[in-house]
Amino acid sequence: MRKYFKHYLIYYLLLFNSSEAFSQIKYIRVLWSVKPESEATISWFTKENSKKNEVLISTSKKNILIKKNISTIKTNYSRKLSNGSFFVHHVNLENLKPNQNYYFKIKSSSSVSKIYYFRTAPKDKQKGFSLLFGGDSRSNRETRQEMNRLVKKKFTENSDILALVHGGDFIYDGRKWSEWKMWLEDYSKTYTDDFRVLPLMVTRGNHEKDKKLFNEIFNWPGRGNVYYTTEIGNFSLLTLNTEISIAGNQREWLQNELERLSVSHKWILTNYHRPAWPAVKSPGLALQQWVPLFEKYKVNLVFESDGHVLKKTVPIKANKINLKEGIIYLGEGGLGVKQRIPTKKDAWYLQSPGYAESFHHLYVLSVLAEKLSVDVILKDGSVYDKFFIFPKQRI
Ligand SMILES: [Fe+2]
Repeated sequence: MRKYFKHYLIYYLLLFNSSEAFSQIKYIRVLWSVKPESEATISWFTKENSKKNEVLISTSKKNILIKKNISTIKTNYSRKLSNGSFFVHHVNLENLKPNQNYYFKIKSSSSVSKIYYFRTAPKDKQKGFSLLFGGDSRSNRETRQEMNRLVKKKFTENSDILALVHGGDFIYDGRKWSEWKMWLEDYSKTYTDDFRVLPLMVTRGNHEKDKKLFNEIFNWPGRGNVYYTTEIGNFSLLTLNTEISIAGNQREWLQNELERLSVSHKWILTNYHRPAWPAVKSPGLALQQWVPLFEKYKVNLVFESDGHVLKKTVPIKANKINLKEGIIYLGEGGLGVKQRIPTKKDAWYLQSPGYAESFHHLYVLSVLAEKLSVDVILKDGSVYDKFFIFPKQRI
């Protein structure tokens, strides 16, 4: 009897140490914004107000297991959600090495997570990498989960994929923690079976509503209006915010950033929620305020969301098709929400080689030394379209 008791005790101790079933640590994520070569935020939630919240991190998984050469970093932000029962925790990491796997374990009071990892972005301009793009994961949970399984498949198959850029409208009502919880639960299903976390770069959509929960969940409190430039080697991505004034400060910032990046970076891409060149709705104010700047500074590619269709415009310059110098606009949100019928299918900017269709989709953008490669992947995993973008002369 004593022998059996001993076995059960060992079993329970092992289970307690190796599983998060008993842990109060929930919805672990890695967030990227400006410098993914050297910075990242590790975030999670707890049901209770845990006193001691920290991350144990190392470039080797073994070091964490044997507790050698690891850094312990305390949270920069641990607070109860303004509209929800959980507590959110963020640890900001700095001075990371580029193109490096980082293994980490989270501790909140007596709860301990499994060991997860992520890879920082490369600094070497010759090193290729890929990003996933998609928006509007929103209302239809079953399809969202199906799309997340596709994200996991792509992330598992292609280890060059570093992060997912989400174009906004994560859920239907951004004021509801109950919806965010489901979204967070579903997002954690994109991680690989060996616990590699897919870092997130976020964009604000109209369904994020009063933005309070969005800011708390994605580590934006006190960090401004959610428009920012992500730089990876000679690649840059400007995430813009269509939910605040598109002119004024944001436009001025955009112009200054484009001026700077046009001399320092080979690739300039932009990403925002409401389309300038829509396949369903009316054009957003971005058409007047931002598109002339994109054209002036020769942006290479633009991602839009919000319309709930699969769209690729013809290359556009000065309101006309321009196959040599025009900009292609991709969109418009197919990570879960029911797809609409593209009512503007006959518009001049959606004719061949452009298109507008009612398909759920995910973009795989590969940044190679001499070109960008874009794969348009449908829900069933098939490749609907593949095309390349070449550098532009900017003098
Ligand atoms: Fe939207």
